[in-house]
Amino acid sequence: MASFVLYLSATVLFAQSTVAFDCSKPPVYVDIHKRAVHGTDVFQYGSFIGVGSPAQNQSLWPSISQNHTSFAASDYCDSSNTTLKDCPISTRGNFDRDLSQSFRENKDFKALDKNRNETFDGIFGQDDIHLYTHYFETDGASQTLVTNSTIEVAQSGKISPGIVGMGQASTLLRDLADRGMIAGRTYSLYIGQGFPRAGGAVNGSNTFGGYDAGRFKGPVHKYPMKISNVNAMSVRVKDIVITDSKSPNSNVSLFDAQKFNMKSRPENFEAELTTDQYPLSLPYQITQNFMSHFGAEVQEDKDDPWQDQSLKLKNPFNGTLSIVLDDDFVITLPPEVLMNASNITPIQKRDENDTRPFYLSSAFLGQVYLMADYDSYTFFLAQAVQKNNAVMPTTFCPKAVPEAYEGPKQSAWVQQGLIGAVIGGILGGMGIAICGYCLFLGLKRRRAEKKLEKEMAALEKGKSAKFVQMEVDDSPEFDPPPKTATPFFWKKR
Ligand SMILES: *[C@@H]1O[C@H](CO)[C@@H](O)[C@H](O)[C@H]1NC(C)=O
Ligand SMILES: *[C@@H]1O[C@H](CO)[C@@H](O)[C@H](O)[C@H]1NC(C)=O
Ligand SMILES: *[C@@H]1O[C@H](CO)[C@@H](O)[C@H](O)[C@H]1NC(C)=O
Ligand SMILES: *[C@@H]1O[C@H](CO)[C@@H](O)[C@H](O)[C@H]1NC(C)=O
Ligand SMILES: *[C@@H]1O[C@H](CO)[C@@H](O)[C@H](O)[C@H]1NC(C)=O
Ligand SMILES: *[C@@H]1O[C@H](CO)[C@@H](O)[C@H](O)[C@H]1NC(C)=O
Ligand SMILES: *[C@@H]1O[C@H](CO)[C@@H](O)[C@H](O)[C@H]1NC(C)=O
Ligand SMILES: *[C@@H]1O[C@H](CO)[C@@H](O)[C@H](O)[C@H]1NC(C)=O
Ligand SMILES: *[C@@H]1O[C@H](CO)[C@@H](O)[C@H](O)[C@H]1NC(C)=O
Ligand SMILES: *[C@@H]1O[C@H](CO)[C@@H](O)[C@H](O)[C@H]1NC(C)=O
Repeated sequence: MASFVLYLSATVLFAQSTVAFDCSKPPVYVDIHKRAVHGTDVFQYGSFIGVGSPAQNQSLWPSISQNHTSFAASDYCDSSNTTLKDCPISTRGNFDRDLSQSFRENKDFKALDKNRNETFDGIFGQDDIHLYTHYFETDGASQTLVTNSTIEVAQSGKISPGIVGMGQASTLLRDLADRGMIAGRTYSLYIGQGFPRAGGAVNGSNTFGGYDAGRFKGPVHKYPMKISNVNAMSVRVKDIVITDSKSPNSNVSLFDAQKFNMKSRPENFEAELTTDQYPLSLPYQITQNFMSHFGAEVQEDKDDPWQDQSLKLKNPFNGTLSIVLDDDFVITLPPEVLMNASNITPIQKRDENDTRPFYLSSAFLGQVYLMADYDSYTFFLAQAVQKNNAVMPTTFCPKAVPEAYEGPKQSAWVQQGLIGAVIGGILGGMGIAICGYCLFLGLKRRRAEKKLEKEMAALEKGKSAKFVQMEVDDSPEFDPPPKTATPFFWKKR
């Protein structure tokens, strides 16, 4: 009830607010992939963000609950209170404040992250944050500089503290929006699967004040935020179905009372979205059903390198696990995610009397694109496009509904003579955003041309080392942009 009241009052407040959003502002796009970071020569997966001046580059993990953007102090691993495993190569970079000319400690700062559960301790201060956009291998990164932003410097703790805090009170998002650098407090995330625990290759992205229209497909599904929760984004799960790839008619529902000898079908349950852990945490009974169906077991602590209590299947299983939300949105974990080569699943052990929330975590977010609107406390989910051939950052105006880019093959509209209606609709709804785009593109192109010349000169001298940050894959199935849709920015992968 309390949460409902809070939600309602926030909605009313918002409805009454007269803030005008400048939706001509292009978004800020920041890649998530493995790269070199300050403080270690081991590449780390995360968002390409630097801190201080001169910039010390990091690979920050995105959190949708933490409000502060935090960096490991250069002596984080030396602290006797730090218990992070493989600490020197796991902090996602580190920050030596003595090397930054712009760092100012702020001893009076009151932390916004009161519900972080003692994951790490740090000090607060102001410094410059560099958001890097890196589209082309042949194009250097361009930066969006956020000067004098609040940062937390972690001094000791249990987890990897290199985090870009995108919770509902995110100081970074607030700075970007308040300073008119983006359209509003909107943010989109594809977490990707290129990090060690996921064991995949697909990279992710953050889009501040926007979304990547090429990163998702199909309809977008809309949900209200629950701002009284630490994880403000949650959904209701009504079914979980296991399907064997070899016999698609063999669906088994983990909610099936008869099959699993339950008195009645379990109720829908609420699950919070989080990037704070990889495996999903499902209700006890559902987890038991999963275990009994597969003969799955809890790993011994010594065999569980991530200490995340992921279940291990007795025998290999080539099939999928589909999560059905109460609005009928179905998210399917493919075979290679449901089980890796050592039979490890992304489903966590759950104790009978565990009262913590249920989580749809990074394993789930590897399959969906998340678009959050913290100005209207709404978020959207859509099916992620795993291998996208184009990056299309699009302004996400607060209160607007994101739209996936439809590839040129979908020309049914043209065939049906509806092109006028579509263009009219797009211009009506997205005109402003598209104009912002043109400007963005103009700038981007000019910059890219100049950079390209420089890079080519460097290449001739044999200095190709800096080109390793992104791969170019001459994928034959690459769809060129439709000539009528030139505002879109294309990236060949
Ligand atoms: C860290 O450990 C020291 C002792 O080694 C202790 O005095 C101090 O309180 C600890 N700090 C925190 C934040 O736990
Ligand atoms: C972030 O701020 C929101 C709003 O104040 C709060 O509800 C949430 O608990 C904070 N996050 C953490 C991790 O404390
Ligand atoms: C905080 O962490 C402890 C131990 O890690 C755990 O037992 C407790 O349930 C956590 N509390 C919350 C609110 O997550
Ligand atoms: C940090 O990354 C930026 C953008 O690629 C680059 O210009 C800069 O040289 C990097 N800094 C260091 C110390 O590598
Ligand atoms: C930097 O931010 C702090 C805290 O918001 C503020 O007190 C200070 O005046 C700012 N400094 C500059 C130079 O803008
Ligand atoms: C899983 O099943 C699918 C469909 O039958 C098949 O194409 C694929 O090769 C199988 N994968 C493995 C690892 O057996
Ligand atoms: C099996 O479950 C999936 C996921 O819910 C669904 O898409 C599919 O239609 C089901 N197949 C049958 C034969 O019911
Ligand atoms: C499967 O996943 C576990 C947990 O991430 C990992 O330790 C193990 O090495 C993986 N197995 C393979 C063969 O990749
Ligand atoms: C869970 O709580 C119930 C009721 O309090 C108790 O009977 C049961 O033994 C507990 N289970 C575990 C595993 O602690
Ligand atoms: C992800 O990024 C890494 C590092 O730039 C790159 O090596 C890798 O090929 C990329 N993966 C995909 C699928 O694009």
